[in-house]
Amino acid sequence: MTKTIGLICGSLRKNSYNRIIAQSLTELDDSLQFRWIEINDLPLFNEDLEVSVPEAVSSYKSAIQDVDGIIIVSPEYNSGIPGVLKNALDWASRPRESAVLSRKPVGLIGATPGGLGTAFAQLQIKQVLEAMQVHVLPFQKALISQVHKKIDSDQKVLTDEQTKRYLQQYLHQFIHWVDHTPALD
Ligand SMILES: Cc1cc2nc3c(=O)[nH]c(=O)nc-3n(C[C@H](O)[C@H](O)[C@H](O)COP(=O)(O)O)c2cc1C
Repeated sequence: MTKTIGLICGSLRKNSYNRIIAQSLTELDDSLQFRWIEINDLPLFNEDLEVSVPEAVSSYKSAIQDVDGIIIVSPEYNSGIPGVLKNALDWASRPRESAVLSRKPVGLIGATPGGLGTAFAQLQIKQVLEAMQVHVLPFQKALISQVHKKIDSDQKVLTDEQTKRYLQQYLHQFIHWVDHTPALD
């Protein structure tokens, strides 16, 4: 059966490099379906709102529930996780006993014009996901440095062939992880 992979971008910026990288994944494997899971309409997390969960939160949680795995493509802010992404993960962690992200296979990719490829942010995201009992793809890292030199900003596409191959390999490993994680429960 065709696998459906959800894509979450940790940047809300219109011309986000990370969104361009996430979009490029959709062209790397025809056997997969991809679905964007948007986080820009989510309110700031507040336990008071859980009494009557806002519609934006319910549809976000349903979108997570409906996919076989999720790839988060995120920038790094101040050596850490962007606030909008942390907010989205906190919403997905509630209520704890039926959290939609729990046991979901998740992969992490990050892109930056800088030189360290979002390594610090990924460590933090991983720590947060592990607290939520998410099945984060182990061992593999997908860190993209100097991203501005690897895309065509006008066309908003990834052009660097080496990065495409790198992402294709990551995607392949992630699908293998999606196929095998149920055995871990
Ligand atoms: C508040 C802020 C903090 C940032 N901190 C980092 C950082 O710690 N490491 C890094 O590599 N880039 C950092 N950057 C630069 C981002 O990588 C860059 O703005 C990138 O384009 C953001 O991703 P996007 O294009 O997907 O929106 C920072 C940018 C902002 C706005």
